[in-house]
Amino acid sequence: MSVMRRLNDPSRKPNETPDINYGSASDTPEPPPQPSVTAYTGTMNKIIMPPKLVNLRKQLRARVLRTPDEADTWQRGEADKVALIAERLRQIIEKLASEKPEFRLNQAELTLLREAILDDVLGFGAIQPLVDDRSVSEIMVNGPQHIWKEQKGVISESEHTYDDEDHVLWTVQRIIRPMGRQLNREHPMVDARLPDGSRVHIVTLPSALNGTTITIRKFPERRMTVEDLINYGSFTRETAEFLKACVVSRMNVVVSGGTGSGKTTLLNVLSGYIPDEERIITIEDSAELQLNQRHVVRLETSPPIPDGDGKIGALTVRDLVRGSLRMRPERIIIGECRGGEALDMLSAMNTGHDGSMTTVHANNPRDSVARIETLVLMSGMDLPLITVRKQIVSAVDLIVQIARLRDGSRKITQVSEIQGMEGENVILQDIFIYRMPGSNSSSPATVGGGKLESTGFRPKFIERLEENGFRLSGRIFGAGQNTFVKTNL
Ligand SMILES: Nc1ncnc2c1ncn2[C@@H]1O[C@H](COP(=O)(O)OP(=O)(O)O)[C@@H](O)[C@H]1O
Ligand SMILES: [Mg+2]
Repeated sequence: MSVMRRLNDPSRKPNETPDINYGSASDTPEPPPQPSVTAYTGTMNKIIMPPKLVNLRKQLRARVLRTPDEADTWQRGEADKVALIAERLRQIIEKLASEKPEFRLNQAELTLLREAILDDVLGFGAIQPLVDDRSVSEIMVNGPQHIWKEQKGVISESEHTYDDEDHVLWTVQRIIRPMGRQLNREHPMVDARLPDGSRVHIVTLPSALNGTTITIRKFPERRMTVEDLINYGSFTRETAEFLKACVVSRMNVVVSGGTGSGKTTLLNVLSGYIPDEERIITIEDSAELQLNQRHVVRLETSPPIPDGDGKIGALTVRDLVRGSLRMRPERIIIGECRGGEALDMLSAMNTGHDGSMTTVHANNPRDSVARIETLVLMSGMDLPLITVRKQIVSAVDLIVQIARLRDGSRKITQVSEIQGMEGENVILQDIFIYRMPGSNSSSPATVGGGKLESTGFRPKFIERLEENGFRLSGRIFGAGQNTFVKTNL
């Protein structure tokens, strides 16, 4: 059984005391309060804690956790009891202030401290302001002292910090315990979600050398639309028109890109072009796609569940892809191919489920083909490489490459047709390429300021687009510079 499987063991009850020592409450084996964060409004725009208060927050938190009866109250407390909790905190601070001079604080300091503790008790600790800030798309905790964020595509270090490792672990417990997951030295890695659907990945000691590391990909309030992406300059209206024609005409499309390059966002936009009456099955590791069509079945991998024999089972992307073939799909959308499911996807695409789409992790269309080859070999089927290659060529029609440029913007850098084989080589033809003005380089530009241009080549499958009523004029394919980019694999 893999580590991840054991980690996901749901036979562990959410209320079981975790194996980790969270907080300074070594004398208090009480679990942290169950989150009631859904109703908690958070503390957006909070001022950063001055060092003096950080120290007090630490002491106060330790004290709070050392008083089980009070922590107990908070555990049962509803989110609408924030005021009550705040009042209790005020009482504790007042009592402390009568004993220790450093707890004599002014009103502003008291407010800050109270908000911070509320974040600990009802929210996600020091990162709560980032969780609340809608402009933050990613949160990265690299141990207690370094919390990074991504905002408008740009990654920077935030001003927030955790007090210490225990403080980070406190937040971790609040994230994973409601999901019945655990994290400890034996199982130092876990995937989870925040109540709003944001994806969380946590890795701790002994594997995480900086201290417990949390990575949160925030769930977007709404997925970007095609208009948003055109406005952001991610691609042109002409390219959008072409991609729409491809999707409606049931071409099989692979979106290729690096981590955070915007693959899922683009897949969502492309899926939006699927006609409303078609039966769509989406298969994801962690559901992110937001489709507006009426006839959509959403599937997500599931953590292991004990079956009748007491064995542990789980549904992988691969299981779901295979199962979906018996669900009368007209389109299969696989969030990302990361393993052997690539083989099942190719089979599906080659056996009448045209118009299917997925994403793969690769830096250019050529690598993307090589990546799919590798993934197919991971399926355990002992297929000769040439066979795999032929399957890819007959299955996949189009590769759309997206990249995150150095300025944080995301651009489609290549739209390439898989044209066929020449001997053992796969022939790729760029239809659009992102270039600097005036350049006729055969590889795309890697910095902003370029333009997604047509290469002047029309795809070989243009007839299929025409059969579907798309008469794409020279305006789309342009009279580009006809740089024939032939790629040998
Ligand atoms: N075209 C785009 N322009 C600007 N930001 C984008 C674009 N596409 C995606 N993003 C942002 O980039 C982040 C990663 O996007 P996502 O689609 O999840 O990437 P991937 O699936 O490649 O990891 C998200 O925060 C998303 O809002
Ligand atoms: Mg993704």
